[in-house]
Amino acid sequence: MKMKKLLSTIACLGLSVSLLTGCTSTPTQVEKEVTTEVTESAQETLTLETDVIVIGAGGGGLSAAIEAHDAGAHVILVEKMPFVGGNTARATGGLNAAGTTFQKEAGIEDTVEVHYTDTMKGGEELNDPELVKFMTENAADAVAWLTDLGADLSDVGSLGGASFKRAHRPTGGAPVGDHLVNVLYQNTEQRGIDTMLNTEATEVIYENDKVTGIKAIATENGEKTSYIIKADAVVIASGGFGNNPELYTKYQPQLDGFISTNQPGATGDGIILAEALGAALDDIEQIQIHPTVHPETAALITEAVRGNGAILVNTKGERFTDEMSTRDKVSAAVLDQEGQYAYLVFDQGVRESLKAIEKYVAQGLTTEGETPEALATALGMDADTLKATITAWNDSVKSGTDTAFGRSAGMDIAFEKAPYYAIKIAPGVHHTMGGIKINTNAEVVNTDGNIIPGLFAAGEVTGGVHGAERLGGNALADIIVFGRQAGTKAATLAMADGGIGATTVSEKEEAATPKINETATASFKDGVYQGEATGNNGNIKVEVTVKDGFIDTIEVLEHHETSSIFMSIQNDLIPDIIYNQSTEGIDAVTGASNSSTAVFEAVNSALSTAK
Ligand code: FUM
Repeated sequence: MKMKKLLSTIACLGLSVSLLTGCTSTPTQVEKEVTTEVTESAQETLTLETDVIVIGAGGGGLSAAIEAHDAGAHVILVEKMPFVGGNTARATGGLNAAGTTFQKEAGIEDTVEVHYTDTMKGGEELNDPELVKFMTENAADAVAWLTDLGADLSDVGSLGGASFKRAHRPTGGAPVGDHLVNVLYQNTEQRGIDTMLNTEATEVIYENDKVTGIKAIATENGEKTSYIIKADAVVIASGGFGNNPELYTKYQPQLDGFISTNQPGATGDGIILAEALGAALDDIEQIQIHPTVHPETAALITEAVRGNGAILVNTKGERFTDEMSTRDKVSAAVLDQEGQYAYLVFDQGVRESLKAIEKYVAQGLTTEGETPEALATALGMDADTLKATITAWNDSVKSGTDTAFGRSAGMDIAFEKAPYYAIKIAPGVHHTMGGIKINTNAEVVNTDGNIIPGLFAAGEVTGGVHGAERLGGNALADIIVFGRQAGTKAATLAMADGGIGATTVSEKEEAATPKINETATASFKDGVYQGEATGNNGNIKVEVTVKDGFIDTIEVLEHHETSSIFMSIQNDLIPDIIYNQSTEGIDAVTGASNSSTAVFEAVNSALSTAK
């Protein structure tokens, strides 16, 4: 049995503050060596050792990390962004799965075979049939697994191209992605999985015919630290390249100038890492545009709005397509309209059926009118035309037949309850369907058709699952099913001849970072103080407890920020304030600067009475 060398324990806490970079929890095996060879700006290289490295902390990476841990492996999760979640945190519509208990409870007679056929049809049969078979056969188990982890996927709705309602989402049709990221991240935290934020994988190391780890650079407060992380298996789950216009216009030049729904980290780095080891790419030129993106803010307006009943009208107030067709067809129809934009139109009944709509109202993306004519006037379109369109649509809903465009899904609610709403939309880049070629073990396949030993990939960084067009709801099915598979298979490989083994939470707690900087002095009056400030989406309220003259705890009593982003504030920024005993000199969380500033203000307001 192979024994891994356990390196001397110089955990993050034992290093200087500048080397605390990105550790949300503390890697337990660290060796520090002085070198200048990794980058010019980095002064030192730290060596860590683990069993499985997961690159990317979106839904696929978090799932892989949990499964690898639960299979007994020690896992290090690296994420280049300052927060977890990736594009998953922005997913809204649902997770497609057939044959779930939730479908059965709702009397939906869907099958894995129909899910498979719909997916292949949507993908114009360009999809890898084996991958689609694996995804559709394991999607219901993914829903059960997420439910066991604490997710609520009990509401089942319609998305485009699906023969049945199979998009699973939280009660009332609330946005699914942010919820799943929260559940998954909490599960990684409960398991004590090491997560290194602000840490970019720069190379997958390949020696003696197998993957042996990665090189990575962590950045904090402008200081860079280089790492070599040794492992027997690496999972690339770093997402697609929908926020890399240079790369997507290389494959689809006509997308130049399109808005994108993607998070800033979706730049395709994982594809480049894998290609450097000879990985093959599948369907790399297949890039999805989503038909309903708010043009001014690039906010994705979920397909579920149409799935719950909304229609699309052009600037004249006329319908022009089957709104529930696949995204390529609906997008093409919108681009054919005057101005290349359109309006999603729905009534209060549709709004009440889908909680996800509340966010669009809160963001000010909706225009409303008490009657169809009033809505038309507010939009500057002909009132009689919009009224006639809505009347004809209501007739279609009641008869169950859309003679105009043949729509058959999302026809449960006639527009009979005021007010009436519209959201301006235009197509935007949404999902990169091509990427690293994998097999059903989530092993990366090279250009000769052989696997690259020790290298796994999952999620949007891979290609082959979606073919020429992905169905809404299949991204989450893909990332969870293949994320789990990659984690399980990576752990099996890494543990085959012995490994470090999963760290327990208590081991990690022993290594916890000292809470307060030893040089801090007691400067507050003991007591419990509250303070408030305005964040991105509303009030943020904190409660600061001072004990023996020191800030002891900071609890967030209220916030309305995107929760997967706010987790970085809870996990990093607040401990930093307590460590420093001040908000001075602490950097805002990148990508959450308004929320960070509001937390600083709220804490300072609370402490203003404690001096
Ligand atoms: O429209 C949406 O909610 C997007 C779903 C998806 O891309 O899967």
